[in-house]
Amino acid sequence: MASPSPDREEQANDWQQRAPAWTRWAGTMERMADRFNQPLLDAAGIADGQTVLDLASGAGEPALSIARRVGPSGHVTATDLVPEMLDGIERRAQAANLSNLSVRESDMQALPFEDESFDRVVCRFGIMFSPDEGKALSEALRVLKPGGRAAYMVWGPLEDTTVFVVLQSTVRRFLGDQSPPAALPQFRFGPAGSLASVFEAAGFTDVAEQELRFHPRPEAGSGFWRPQLDMSFGHRIRHLSSEERQALDATIDNAFEMYREDDVYRLTAHIRIVTGDKAKE
Ligand SMILES: C[S@@+](CC[C@H](N)C(=O)[O-])C[C@H]1O[C@@H](n2cnc3c(N)ncnc32)[C@H](O)[C@@H]1O
Repeated sequence: MASPSPDREEQANDWQQRAPAWTRWAGTMERMADRFNQPLLDAAGIADGQTVLDLASGAGEPALSIARRVGPSGHVTATDLVPEMLDGIERRAQAANLSNLSVRESDMQALPFEDESFDRVVCRFGIMFSPDEGKALSEALRVLKPGGRAAYMVWGPLEDTTVFVVLQSTVRRFLGDQSPPAALPQFRFGPAGSLASVFEAAGFTDVAEQELRFHPRPEAGSGFWRPQLDMSFGHRIRHLSSEERQALDATIDNAFEMYREDDVYRLTAHIRIVTGDKAKE
């Protein structure tokens, strides 16, 4: 695997600092988030009446989409390492009148749930931050009911998702960060088959991987990248003066120009979904 395993305390600290930005942008990002959520829910086989565990829920994706799909006779438990993220989810669920969603602070490597509690376990863009992914997958298998399924979404290689390519390189250069991009935990499971092999080693059956490629066409000059900048780097750039911040914003806008065609930027995004089943007894 290209990058070392993340450190749990560093992750908890990093995500705690990011939580306000994630909560702030959750509403704005909701429609785009749902374009990723629906294929994940389809792959997991999420259906009416199920009991679902969402790991590393962040600001509530895909937990809120799951709550809508399982309906009033189903239930979703949204979890995260960072309590500040869970506060935001509760507020979103209340505003959306979703009473079939509850939250629980949980490390995905040591889940506070009984064996065989859930029909489905889902995780969107979270497993890459776990220091021991094998342990996290074993825990998911433990809490699944026999015949249940887990479905996890991860990013493909960094170079396939334009927004990250531009923001990572521009901001890191601006901040003088010399560490190699390959060390970024987000892309740990970029190589094909890398997460599927962890599912298999943990004891899942019928493990399958699918690739999704998106081709976003945001309006040029619209500053569409601002939510992602704030969510990814807000805590690292808040010390910049207003002049420095203007300079950074202009540098980012310039960096996107190479993807411009008429009034839009032609971008790509690459995602993998890995699924695995728990054998029926
Ligand atoms: C990239 S965000 C994804 C959030 C959400 N699922 C989404 O797709 O928008 C990663 C989340 O993983 C959480 N996280 C990191 N390590 C974790 C762990 N060991 N157990 C549970 N959650 C963790 C972070 O707090 C953060 O909310």
